[in-house]
Amino acid sequence: MQTNDKIFVAGHRGLVGSAIVRALKNESYNNILTRGREELDLTNQAQVNDFMARERPEYIFMAAAKVGGIHANNVYRGDFIYQNLIIQLNLMEAARQSGVKRLLFLGSSCIYPRACSQPMKEEYLLQSELESTNEPYAIAKIAGIKMCESYNSQYGTDYASVMPTNLYGPGDNFHLENSHVLPALMRKAHEAKINKSKTLSIWGTGKPMREFLHVDDMAAACLFVMKKAGHKPMLNVGTGEEVSIKEVAELICKVVGFEGEIIFDTSKPDGTLRKLVDTEKINKLGWKAQIGLEQGLKTTYDWYVKNESEKCRVD
Ligand SMILES: NC(=O)c1ccc[n+]([C@@H]2O[C@H](COP(=O)([O-])OP(=O)(O)OC[C@H]3O[C@@H](n4cnc5c(N)ncnc54)[C@H](OP(=O)(O)O)[C@@H]3O)[C@@H](O)[C@H]2O)c1
Repeated sequence: MQTNDKIFVAGHRGLVGSAIVRALKNESYNNILTRGREELDLTNQAQVNDFMARERPEYIFMAAAKVGGIHANNVYRGDFIYQNLIIQLNLMEAARQSGVKRLLFLGSSCIYPRACSQPMKEEYLLQSELESTNEPYAIAKIAGIKMCESYNSQYGTDYASVMPTNLYGPGDNFHLENSHVLPALMRKAHEAKINKSKTLSIWGTGKPMREFLHVDDMAAACLFVMKKAGHKPMLNVGTGEEVSIKEVAELICKVVGFEGEIIFDTSKPDGTLRKLVDTEKINKLGWKAQIGLEQGLKTTYDWYVKNESEKCRVD
């Protein structure tokens, strides 16, 4: 990938897409193509075909998707399967027809079975049943992986896919119902501090172990994989390190400056007890996460305070 190659970042206003654009600019890429949803609706095949035929990008980062936490995944099941599948179908087929050099598809660690051995290796895909709450989203993502593999096999395309663990960072979604665990916790801790609350209530026992990757590390991994021709079609991306929900909540309270007590609401479910991706494959290729959790939480909180805290209070 050369600095003047035409690179389309789909979903450039999202958490990952905006980080990819930042990373590309930091590395002096100067021909970055972006379109907002109001100009190019990726669920609309005619618009996508027209855009790709006209612009002919050489590289595509597919960071556009319907994304959300457990609640949104479980309630808007139809939206999650329909929008994700159709965005993938439209973009990957139009990319093939317009002769894109390389495409990177973003999947998710939700593709792995519900009772998957830990850490989750790429080979564990499709070995047993999926978690039911996010099954429609996972099925769409699995279809994306298989579409990359099938197109590479039949048409000789160079499509790769990466499976990120839980991501966080500047640009995250801090909506209380639709967001992921880390930004939701950060917002609750911030509001508890502002409201001078004595306690902060958290769902479950705090014991489940999770992995969190800063989005700038994710963007670095995306560029790393995109630069490698003929790479493996599917790679996990994570830190390889686990932290309990209790530890992450304590760290968030420290970063936010909430000094009250954390209460664990054990009447609420814990979810899966361990969820960690195996990153041996991408590590062996030469990529490793660089940003520690506390450092990453600080930059995320700075961003939240500057950009989102006022907006969130009136949601
Ligand atoms: N966040 C995580 O923890 C996480 C973890 C694993 C995998 N991933 C994957 O990483 C990718 C990016 O996720 P993210 O967290 O960056 O999501 P995000 O912040 O919600 O961003 C998604 C982007 O996609 C765009 N988009 C959605 N539907 C569109 C449409 N019909 N036409 C045009 N644009 C559309 C959105 O545009 P608007 O700005 O107009 O809404 C937004 O910019 C996704 O594939 C996701 O599955 C994320």
